Amino acid sequence: MDKIVINGGKPLHGNVQISGAKNAALPVLASALLTTGTNTFHNIPDLMDIKTIKKLLCSMGAQIEGEETVKINVDKIISHTASYDLVKTMRASILVLGPLVARAGVARVSLPGGCAIGARPVNLHLKALEDMGAHVELKSGYVEAKAKKLKGAEIYFDLPTVTGTENIMMAATLAQGTTVLNNAAREPEIVNLADVLKSMGAKISGAGTDVITIKGVTSMKPTEAFIIPDRIEAGTFMIAAGMTHGEINIVGCNPHHLETLINKLRDTGMKISPIKNGLKVSAGGKINSVDVKTLPYPGFPTDLQAQMMAYMSIGGGLSVISETVFENRFMHVSELLRMGADIVIQGGNAIVRGVSTLRGAQTMATDLRASASLVLAALVAEGTTEISRVYHIDRGYQTIEKKFSALGADIKRIK
Ligand code: UD1
Repeated sequence: MDKIVINGGKPLHGNVQISGAKNAALPVLASALLTTGTNTFHNIPDLMDIKTIKKLLCSMGAQIEGEETVKINVDKIISHTASYDLVKTMRASILVLGPLVARAGVARVSLPGGCAIGARPVNLHLKALEDMGAHVELKSGYVEAKAKKLKGAEIYFDLPTVTGTENIMMAATLAQGTTVLNNAAREPEIVNLADVLKSMGAKISGAGTDVITIKGVTSMKPTEAFIIPDRIEAGTFMIAAGMTHGEINIVGCNPHHLETLINKLRDTGMKISPIKNGLKVSAGGKINSVDVKTLPYPGFPTDLQAQMMAYMSIGGGLSVISETVFENRFMHVSELLRMGADIVIQGGNAIVRGVSTLRGAQTMATDLRASASLVLAALVAEGTTEISRVYHIDRGYQTIEKKFSALGADIKRIK
């Protein structure tokens, strides 16, 4: 299994090109299930999770070509099943459920189990499909949803679920009548998906707000579309600039998607200004400790909580980091403690007392974003850090060691 080895202490300087957003590319690729003909999607990141969804779509009959530009054709659906093997490695596989029921009238998707960051149920996806007239049953660990024709419905999500909103928005495009999603999630990735669906002929309004209205159409046509830049990857490199006392141009990001983070990082003392096609981000002098509370968009993203904690662990004072989106997303804390951080967990809060130095250690990645926090901590730590189980990082960061190395970090991958 690969390891990443980092010798810390190098300030990072230069340009980093941000890749396409994993969390936008996954639902957009799944949306190809809604059309016959060839769809062309640009700016697809080269990640393990993308390979997984491609494999899943191919098992259902998709013909797929290309990496950064992907051509995908699902003229014929040959299987309605998303197997346990694929769903267990990537929970976002559930994204095929909505489009498959809408197009084929039946879908069988393995129920995702728990994961490192909590139980993560899909009950809201299933309840919404039932509200649209689907018959949903759980059989041998698989969700089976059937509906000759889904019917438009008024849906009330208990929580703003990102993939739930995407799944039901896709299902509703081919339903009979109008569907209204209340308390919908508002993430930029949802707007990206809605734009793609609209270019396929869907009638959608309100994406990006908490009420999305979808008027069902009888069929959709293939399209050509772009994936938005990855705001979580961009945020990770922005935090890296602050932590390493560096200066990085974050090229190809969308600053509008990063406003909450930009404000928070400015409060820590960092300097952030617009440049052509991105942001210039540099460290201030002393790092001010700030409090952070994760919330659905446009709140502070839970996917940047671990990276922010690594930053605050070298802050000048006390920081309270509250995780409100997932119940168990502090797996990185024990690894940061091994590097000399001073963090105490109290319920959903982590109390972080800044220390002057982190020290290199042998660490283990536990989930995707937790592993990014270990990379950041290692970049400033004294000595050498080894991060094992890096397959977690490869799920969501494209060639992370090459991008950091080009900025001056002493980082390498050992096979
Ligand atoms: C998506 C992102 C993930 C991000 C998360 C929150 C993708 C592929 N993944 O995950 O990177 O961390 O949004 O921004 O886009 N919930 C339920 N029942 C449901 C669905 C969700 O109780 O049926 C709860 C979850 O347990 C969680 C909260 O709702 O507490 C939000 O989860 P959700 O937005 O659904 O996360 P994902 O879509 O899985």
